[in-house]
Amino acid sequence: MSDTIGNPLDDPSADPFEIAAAAAADIARLTGVERHDIALTLGSGWGKAADLIGETTVTIPATEVTGFSSPALEGHVGTLRSILTPKGRRVLVIGARTHYYEGHGVRRVVHSVRTVAATGARTMVLTNGAGGIKHTWSPGQPVLISDHINLSGDSPLEGATFIDLTDLYSIRLRDLARTIDPSLDEGVYCQFRGPQYETPAEVRMAKTIGGHIVGMSTALEAIAARQAGLEILGFSLITNMAAGIQTTPLSHQEVIEAGRDAEPVISSLLARVVGAL
Ligand code: HPA
Repeated sequence: MSDTIGNPLDDPSADPFEIAAAAAADIARLTGVERHDIALTLGSGWGKAADLIGETTVTIPATEVTGFSSPALEGHVGTLRSILTPKGRRVLVIGARTHYYEGHGVRRVVHSVRTVAATGARTMVLTNGAGGIKHTWSPGQPVLISDHINLSGDSPLEGATFIDLTDLYSIRLRDLARTIDPSLDEGVYCQFRGPQYETPAEVRMAKTIGGHIVGMSTALEAIAARQAGLEILGFSLITNMAAGIQTTPLSHQEVIEAGRDAEPVISSLLARVVGAL
């Protein structure tokens, strides 16, 4: 379904889970794969992982799948790819994230997560590019997400839907990732609304309340993934030190370039982790 002729998720009376089921049916039809096992959302810097995971059997423009929006950002490819791994597992790669700051509402932000759950996937790997707060980190370094603080002020849950978020980012999967790279550090991800980068004062606040990573995605998606029963693994690529920690101004160009430089190393890491799932 094309974004330009209206998105069914924008109808407040529509059921977002029915739309996700329709999207999953589109994916099954367009890929010829009835069930996927694992899903991956690839953020800044992580895109090349898709080439290393296995054989891409089908690539679909995201706009051909019900409810998906065209991506707003350079460096974000608007496709869904179905990959067959050497172990015979089916991986669905979402290269079309909708960010909360785009202003289309949280239903659109989490539609990909609900869709992958409807395709049958049990595991969701969420990746992003983000700012680092820990002084021991440097740009280009991948870190595991251990927990999050949702500063978006919003939620994908509607009505009195009380959901436990203890161990939201699976300890089992984090341990598994560390069997591939024992040097992986981890931290708490703070989702800001964006699209402006944080002020140094906001970064100090994030640090004071227990944050180590600042970004503009992932937390809302992880909440929806937990609601859908998916086991979650989260990775951030530290593309820059957060505002005020690095003394130079932040730029989107810097984020893209750091992602590009780190891409070969982190993509191979991610592909090895997915191979072990
Ligand atoms: N803040 C928020 N989002 C980001 C950053 C940052 O410093 N770097 C990349 N994405």
